[in-house]
Parts: sequence; structure tokens; C-alpha cells
Amino acid sequence: MVNYKDLGLVNTRAMFAKAVRGGYAIPAFNFNNMEQMQAIIMAAVETKSPVILQISKGARNYANQTLLRYMAEGAVAYAKELGCEHPEIVLHLDHGDSYELCKNCIEMGFSSVMIDGSALPYDENVALTKKVVEFAHQYDVTVEGELGVLAGVEDEVSAAESHYTKPEEVIDFVTKTGVDSLAISIGTSHGAYKFTPEQCTVDPKTGRLLPPPLAFDVLEAVEEKLPGFPIVLHGSSSVPQEDVDIINSNGGCLKAAVGIPEEQLRKASKSAVCKINIDSDSRLAMTAAIRKTMAEKPAEFDPRKYLGPARDRMKELYMHKIINVLGSNDQLIEG
Ligand code: G3H
Ligand code: 13P
Ligand code: ZN
Repeated sequence: MVNYKDLGLVNTRAMFAKAVRGGYAIPAFNFNNMEQMQAIIMAAVETKSPVILQISKGARNYANQTLLRYMAEGAVAYAKELGCEHPEIVLHLDHGDSYELCKNCIEMGFSSVMIDGSALPYDENVALTKKVVEFAHQYDVTVEGELGVLAGVEDEVSAAESHYTKPEEVIDFVTKTGVDSLAISIGTSHGAYKFTPEQCTVDPKTGRLLPPPLAFDVLEAVEEKLPGFPIVLHGSSSVPQEDVDIINSNGGCLKAAVGIPEEQLRKASKSAVCKINIDSDSRLAMTAAIRKTMAEKPAEFDPRKYLGPARDRMKELYMHKIINVLGSNDQLIEG
């Protein structure tokens, strides 16, 4: 059993309480490789932001869970080396789909896990989530549950349609399970294609697709039922059109990719939403930078020459999210 505290990691409890009080959200960035991890830590240190490093089941399969865990441990030392005396870094399992997976991650040093029972019937979701919470809390590991279904692919679970969270269920769910935070569905979804063109309107000024607004009424109803309780938004990439354009003009083919407008995420960050998940925007930034370098320097074959600019571009993206969207800059508890 590796305890996350021995690795210098923290759980989400104090971080979320402070974020809810302060009206900002903690960035939860997925990582699968060294460049993403470096960019996340550089951005968090430079902006003095707490940060959640998320590992999905897909990331575990791709990069190996042991390596990723050591990278997260290394991230703490790296942040200190970059000048941050007291980094606040959470190592979180994203979309855990079984008790065994959550248990295994907790035993390997994760400080937070998500058990995603959102595709299950309500009572089964409650029972599974409660079981994970009972195990996790023995080690002071925090647990995120989910109610409501996001459209798109949630790791290996895919749903064609989203089902908003039912505010009338949240008190019962939180009380019965003992979860520390709750992911809800208010119209966000995973991936770079969050809305079909039919669901969007066309911005007359730019000709770009404008998605339907998030269901802030559902968020407000949830907040009313659970005052001050930490709420999580998944599927919160904004799909920057600049990166989509760079990809498309350098041999890529991303058609009608649409994300969540940043002003809506800014608004959500000021509410009880205290964790915002971003993965696709980092994938787009990395791909855009790599495609651009490869197109401009076709004779280049040193991976550092295209992964370096990709890392720079991701760092810029993460800093932008922290400062201009989530507002978690300058929020480290110990300065
Ligand atoms: O919610 C899903 C995350 O973006 C992780 O995606 O399962 O492809 O690693 P992945
Ligand atoms: P995006 O696909 O919008 O980046 O969402 C990521 C996410 O929710 C990870 O759990
Ligand atoms: Zn997600």
C-alpha cells in the first residue's frame, strides 16, 4: 500500500472547500505522457494554482499505470524544483468504472478517485459509489461520483444523448454514498464534437457554429439542494477554433468540431462548480503544434523539435485556462 501523502500529493477536500468559497474552479487536466505532465506542472507553478492530474483507464492502458504514478510523484518534486515550495497536486482516477480499479489506484498512491456509475440504474450507482467511498475514506482519499449522463464517449461508455442530472436525486445520492464531490450533467459532453451542426446556430459575424447554452437552471437547482457542495463539470473543453484551423490547414481533417464557450465555463467556475475537466483542448493544442512543425520543417526528425513546441503550446493553453477561465491562479493554500 502506497499512501499518497508519502508522495507529497494532496486530496481534494480542502482544495474544493476553498474553491467553492472563493468562486473559482480547480483545473483537472488529463495526462498520458511526459510532455503533457511537464506543461501542466509548469503552468500550475507559474500561475501559483492548485492542480488535478487525471489519469483515465485509457491512459493507464496506453502509458502504464506504474509509470504514470511515478510521473505524478515526480511532478511534486518537479514543481518544487521550479520554485513552488508547497505545490498542491492531486492524482485522480478519471472515470473509474469498477470498485477493483478504484481500490487498485488507491493502493498505488492516488489521492482521489472518480467512480462513474452514471450509466447504471440509480440504486446500483448508489451501491457501487458507497462501496468505493467506504474503502477510499479509510485512507483519506476523496471520491467523485456522477449523476446524469453526458453525451459522447465516457472512456469505454458511450451515450448518444445526454440526460441532465435530476436535482431531486442529488441529496439522496450524496447522503447515501458519502461522496466528496458530484459530477453533474448540464449539457457538456466529451470530445471535440460536442454538438451536431443541427444543434448549433451560426454566428453571423464569424460564420462559426454556436452551441446551445448550458443548463444553468439545472446547476442552480442542484446548488439549492446542496448548498456549498463541490460540483464537477466533465466535458469542458472549448475546442479552440484557432487550433482546429491550424490542424486543418496542415493536413488534418476536423470537421464541425465544437466545444463549450469559455464565457459559460467562466460563469460556472464562479458557482459551486469547483473542478473542471479538460482533455480534448490539450489534445488539439498538441496536435496543432506537431502538425505545424512537421509541415514547416519537413526535414526535421528529432522528436524534441516537434514535441518541444507542442509542450510550449499546451503550457500556454493551461495557463490561459487557469487565469482567464477557471480563476485558480494565486490560490495555493500556503501561498
Ligand atoms: O473523459 C474522458 C477523457 O477525455 C479521457 O479520455 O479515455 O480517451 O483517455 P480517454
Ligand atoms: P473534454 O473531452 O471536453 O476535454 O472532457 C474531458 C473530461 O471530461 C475528462 O474526464
Ligand atoms: Zn469526463
